[in-house]
Amino acid sequence: MYKLYKENPWSYQIISLSLRQKTLKPINMAKVFTVSNVKGGVGKTTICSLLATYLTEQGITVSVLDADLQESLKRHRERDMESYPDTDPEWELERLDMEDDAEVRTIMKSVKELDGVVLIDCPGTLNDDNLQFVYGAADGAIVPISYDDDTIDATSLFVTVFRKLSNVPMLFVPNRINKSEGTKAEREQREETEKALNSIGKVMPAIKQTVAVKRYNTLFALDLQQRIAVGSTFEAIQREMNL
Ligand SMILES: Nc1ncnc2c1ncn2[C@@H]1O[C@H](COP(=O)(O)OP(=O)(O)OP(=O)(O)O)[C@@H](O)[C@H]1O
Ligand SMILES: [Mg+2]
Repeated sequence: MYKLYKENPWSYQIISLSLRQKTLKPINMAKVFTVSNVKGGVGKTTICSLLATYLTEQGITVSVLDADLQESLKRHRERDMESYPDTDPEWELERLDMEDDAEVRTIMKSVKELDGVVLIDCPGTLNDDNLQFVYGAADGAIVPISYDDDTIDATSLFVTVFRKLSNVPMLFVPNRINKSEGTKAEREQREETEKALNSIGKVMPAIKQTVAVKRYNTLFALDLQQRIAVGSTFEAIQREMNL
C-alpha cells in the first residue's frame, strides 16, 4: 500500500476509502451527487452531512468528499471525533483538494469505483476550473436554495453553468423555510420561483429553519427532531435519485 501511495497518492486515497467500505477491491459503480450552489451559507454542508447519515440508515454505503477550501465538514467531523473519540463514524469523509488539478481529475475518474453513494460538499463558488470535473462526474445535483433575491439570482447562475457541463437531474432543496412567514407577494414569488425551477429540475419538500438541523453531528443517527425536519425531503431525494 505504501508503494502505491508513493506512486499515486490519489488512487491510494480512493482504494483506502474502498477498503474501509469493507470491499476487497473497488467493484461497484457508485452514484455520485454534488451538494452545490454558488450561494454561500445556503445549507450545503449541513444537508450533505444529514443526508449522508440518513442514507446510511437506509442501508446504503455512503462516502463524502469535502471539496470546500473552508473544510467545514472535515473540521466538523474532527470536532465530533474529539468529543466522542471512540466512535466509529457511520460514513467515511475524505478531503478533495480543489487546488490540486491532478488530484481532482484522478479522484473524479476513480470515484465511481466506490460502492453505494458518494456525496460531494462543493464550494460556494464557480471560479474554479476544476469544478468541471466534479460536476461532470455527477449523477445528480442536490441544490439547496432559499427564496431571497440574492439566492435566486445565484441559483440561476449556478444552474446555467451546471447545465453547460451536465444534463443529470437537479433536485432543489428549499432550506431554512418557514412557510407561514412572508407577505402575499413573497409567497407568490416563491410559487413563481418553484415553477421556474421545476422546469429545470425538481423542487423537493422544504426543510424548516430549526435548531435540530443546526445542531447536526457527523457521527450519530438522526434524532427524532432531525428526522421530522428532514425526513420527507430526504425520502423524496432517495426516490427521485432511485437509491
Ligand atoms: N434548516 C436549517 N435550520 C437552521 N439552521 C440551518 C439550517 N440549515 C443550515 N443552517 C445553518 O446555516 C448556516 C449555514 O449552513 P451551511 O454551513 O450548511 O451552509 P453552506 O452552504 O455549506 O455554507 P458555505 O457556502 O459557507 O459552505 C450554518 O450555521 C447552519 O447551522
Ligand atoms: Mg459549506
